[in-house]
Amino acid sequence: MTALDGREFRDALGWFATGVTVITTRGPDGDLVGFTANSFTSVSLDPPLVLFSINRQASCLPIFEGCAHFAVNILAEHQAALSSRFATANHDKWRGVAVETWEGGCPILGEALANFECAVHAMHDGGDHRIFIGRVLRLRSSGTGKPLLFSRGAYRLLGDRLGAPAEAAAGSTSALDNGGLFAEHEPWTSA
Ligand SMILES: Cc1cc2nc3c(=O)[nH]c(=O)nc-3n(C[C@H](O)[C@H](O)[C@H](O)COP(=O)(O)O)c2cc1C
Repeated sequence: MTALDGREFRDALGWFATGVTVITTRGPDGDLVGFTANSFTSVSLDPPLVLFSINRQASCLPIFEGCAHFAVNILAEHQAALSSRFATANHDKWRGVAVETWEGGCPILGEALANFECAVHAMHDGGDHRIFIGRVLRLRSSGTGKPLLFSRGAYRLLGDRLGAPAEAAAGSTSALDNGGLFAEHEPWTSA
């Protein structure tokens, strides 16, 4: 164990592989706003809540703090360049990007594997970040495709599946309950 060093903290966090999203909203003048985020996560199924965190230094933070809605676009593996574009400040992020608009007015990115349009439910302090919780109002989800992944500072591709497809057991209280389908990979499970 080591005392907390900033570099080591980041390196250790990098072992937590994530998907990649572009979080979007629309400014008061109707301008399109978005940034790349891997801090997206689900929070609650009922009500349907998700969250992301945004750096206090992000130039788009004031727009998000003033918005009523935001959208989460989950990127597919062929969208790494789009991710890098939306992770670059002071860049013409939207040039040539096909967007559609749903009822909340947020830019919805085509070709994303899933899109969620959310009402801002809560904002919280998160140290050098701000945490946004959104209530999902509407979504679109692709039936096929592969997600873009991010781990240890690099984009990655999804590897092979382990075990049978996970399905929530009847009566499960968690979306993550796999009903024991992965028992063969769980050393703490007796045969
Ligand atoms: C894969 C990846 C994930 C990122 N995740 C986040 C994140 O969750 N929160 C955040 O504030 N910045 C994140 N960033 C950095 C922002 O996308 C970047 O700083 C962006 O330019 C901030 O918005 P701005 O252009 O309005 O300043 C991430 C960058 C990459 C490449």
